[in-house]
Formats: sequence, C-alpha cells, structure tokens
Amino acid sequence: MVFNWRTWQGVLFLFVVLVSVLFSGIIRAESANDEQSFFNQYQIRRGRYLVTAVAGCADCHSPQNNPNDPQWLAGYMPGTPGQPFDVGPGFKIYPANITPDKDTGIGSWTPQQVFNALRQGVDNEGHVLCPPMPWPTFRNMSDRDTWAIVAYLKSLTPVSNNVPENVAPDGTRPDCSVLYQGLQPLPPYPGKNETGGEV
Ligand code: HEC
Repeated sequence: MVFNWRTWQGVLFLFVVLVSVLFSGIIRAESANDEQSFFNQYQIRRGRYLVTAVAGCADCHSPQNNPNDPQWLAGYMPGTPGQPFDVGPGFKIYPANITPDKDTGIGSWTPQQVFNALRQGVDNEGHVLCPPMPWPTFRNMSDRDTWAIVAYLKSLTPVSNNVPENVAPDGTRPDCSVLYQGLQPLPPYPGKNETGGEV
C-alpha cells in the first residue's frame, strides 16, 4: 500500500469518527442519572449471586432467601424467629430494609453510601452498623464484588417497611462504634497458617 495523502485522509477520518463515538459515550454516561443505567446487567447479576448464594444477606434481611418473596430484603418483620437480634442483655437490633424504598429503605442513599456500609460499616449518617451485620467480614470483599452488591440492591423493587430503631438497655439508640475500635485489617497473604505454596 502506498502511504499517500488519500490514505492519511482515511486515517484521519477514522480517528475523528472514533473520538466522536467515545465522546458521545462519555456524555451519555454522564447524563444517565438513574441508577439502573449507572450499573450494568453483569454487575446486577453478579450481585444477585453474591447476595443469594455467598454472603447470606437474606439470612437476616429476608430469612426466606427467596427473591419472589414480596418482602424480599425488606428487613425486620414482626414474628420472625430470633429477631430483633439480642446482641447483649437489653439490646434490640433490627435488620434494616435494604430495598431502594426512599422512605424506609436505602432508596435515598447514594450508591457510594451503600458501598460504604459494606466497606466501612457506616450508615448514610455515619453511624457504625451494629452486630450481627457482618461488615467486618464484608469489608474484605473486592471493590468489584462490593459494587456488584450495590448494583443489585439498587435494582430491586422498593418495599415499604418501616423497621424500628435499635434500642440499648437504657432505651436510647446504641452506639456500636465501641465494639469495633480494635478492628485490624487482614494480615498480608500468606498469613501464619497459610503456606502460600502449591498443594
Ligand atoms: C447476620 C445478619 C446479617 C447479615 C448476614 C447481613 N446483614 Fe446487613 N444488617 C444486619 C443488621 C442487624 C443491620 C442493622 C444494623 C444497625 O442498625 O446498626 C444491617 C444493616 C445493613 C445495612 C445498613 C442499612 C441501614 O439502613 O442502616 C446495609 C446496607 C446492609 N445491612 C446490607 C447487607 C448486605 C448487602 C448483606 C449481604 C452482603 C448483609 N447486609 C448481610 C444484619 C445482617
């Protein structure tokens, strides 16, 4: 092929087309303000898998573990055995409504705030989440998996279910930050009981 001016024109044309396609993609991504289009189908399905088969979120948030349940992930329901959780004498801890209902669930939380709940164990107002919410374990999940769970939760049908406030023995709202003061990050791999080698 002779590399003449016509060829350059062709290359230039293709380049311009490519740049405009890329830019229109960016502009579209920026103008997409609803959360459904913020996340993709892959993330949502991965999130469903993690929520239903790996992380056991439903054990507490929806004990039937059935996405067809009209109360799926809507949190505490009166009469659920073992709930509210009695994490110490006089304490009552209620599993939250984690559907995207704006008034009673996480509908008004930004995706980043839901991410922070799993990564840092804080709610949208900065309160530390109480046990038995296993955020000290969930915080070790990869960014990718944590975002997948956020995507899944945000994609759910909102369920209106007003979960009561937690109570401490003196009737106030318990401050669970005291329980997690000494929390350490995972040791680097390999730890003492991990050979780091082949089996
Ligand atoms: C062993 C029980 C248990 C499991 C398993 C569990 N949670 Fe929770 N979760 C709770 C309880 C209890 C609370 C309420 C904590 C509080 O109010 O301080 C909570 C709170 C939350 C909150 C904060 C909501 C709010 O309104 O404050 C989010 C988000 C959440 N859980 C998501 C999840 C996800 C996602 C999973 C699975 C990856 C999961 N939880 C697994 C018990 C659990």
